[in-house]
Amino acid sequence: MYTIIREALFHFDPEKVHHFSMGCLHKACNIPFIHQQIKQQFTVTHPSLERKLWNLHFKNPVGLGAGFDKNALYIQQLAALGFGFVEIGTVTPKPQAGNEQPRLFRLPQDKALVNRMGFNNEGVVAVKRRLEALQNKSIIVGGNIGKNKVTPNEDAWKDYEICFKQLHHCVDYFVVNVSSPNTPGLRALQEKEALGKILSHLQHINQGMRTPKPLLLKIAPDLTQEQLDDIVALSFEVQLDGLVATNTTISRADLRTNNAQIQQIGAGGLSGLPIKDMSNRVTQYLNQQTSGKVPIIGSGGIFTGQDAAEKMALGASLIQVWTGFVYQGPAIASNICNYLINQK
Ligand SMILES: Cc1cc2nc3c(=O)[nH]c(=O)nc-3n(C[C@H](O)[C@H](O)[C@H](O)COP(=O)(O)O)c2cc1C
Repeated sequence: MYTIIREALFHFDPEKVHHFSMGCLHKACNIPFIHQQIKQQFTVTHPSLERKLWNLHFKNPVGLGAGFDKNALYIQQLAALGFGFVEIGTVTPKPQAGNEQPRLFRLPQDKALVNRMGFNNEGVVAVKRRLEALQNKSIIVGGNIGKNKVTPNEDAWKDYEICFKQLHHCVDYFVVNVSSPNTPGLRALQEKEALGKILSHLQHINQGMRTPKPLLLKIAPDLTQEQLDDIVALSFEVQLDGLVATNTTISRADLRTNNAQIQQIGAGGLSGLPIKDMSNRVTQYLNQQTSGKVPIIGSGGIFTGQDAAEKMALGASLIQVWTGFVYQGPAIASNICNYLINQK
């Protein structure tokens, strides 16, 4: 069924389709009977799906990756689709428009997307207010935080601090995003010294709070082994609660889509099937080097239950989807959950 709908949707601009589809879901869920029907159809519950991590109870290990619901507009609707958690953001201190459109592209032959959104978001205050207004939040919500484009890298820690403090009471865990390729210079913050400064500062604030929140770091799949080793060392030094592996890649290697089209699309982060293996390798390496002591959220190229199970076998405690949602449709979380139950 979704294959037919996808065929139609793929004739239109990807970003417009995203807002249109989420708008439809939002409207449908405003009708209590339909909301209930959607919930019934997509919710899969089973004791084997439950995860206890950082003192949080996840109904299932399948989350929606950052960037899908940047402004926390659709938490209840995404919960109805059966996700175990949603990561909102990336949120920055000030609202920003992001890059010029078009900035999101499909590569159907590769089951991939390229995006250069550029942290378009309504800013941390608007997002905080929206989260505060959420009643009976039935799902775990992560807050993915970043810096504004205009903030120089040496002041980046101040942006992370603002977002961290503003959202502290309304999210369940935090992800520090220094791995988006679409904010100029951001990925330089993955270097040990710069990163150490941001993370130790946030952890210091966090430990001073009455209820410290789990603090995670999201990394790119393009890091060298030396950089990954630095991340591992830093994870222990600042007592990170987890790692999100991985964000999108800047690589364009081994794509089926023809080169002229790739050139025409231009800069951005590649996601979906082409990044599956590289994200898996990073997950496995981090898990080995940390001896499984730093929980990993696996992200990159998950479309099916089998993909999810593979990532978990390599060391991911939880997984997230993004591009898979576009290609597999709204049943992706429930399909993965059903596969995981039957695997037991
Ligand atoms: C359009 C788009 C926007 C994204 N925005 C963000 C973002 O704001 N912050 C972030 O940490 N990751 C962002 N991501 C990365 C995803 O969260 C995810 O880590 C990545 O796409 C790999 O997973 P996938 O192969 O399942 O898509 C974005 C991805 C896409 C496709």
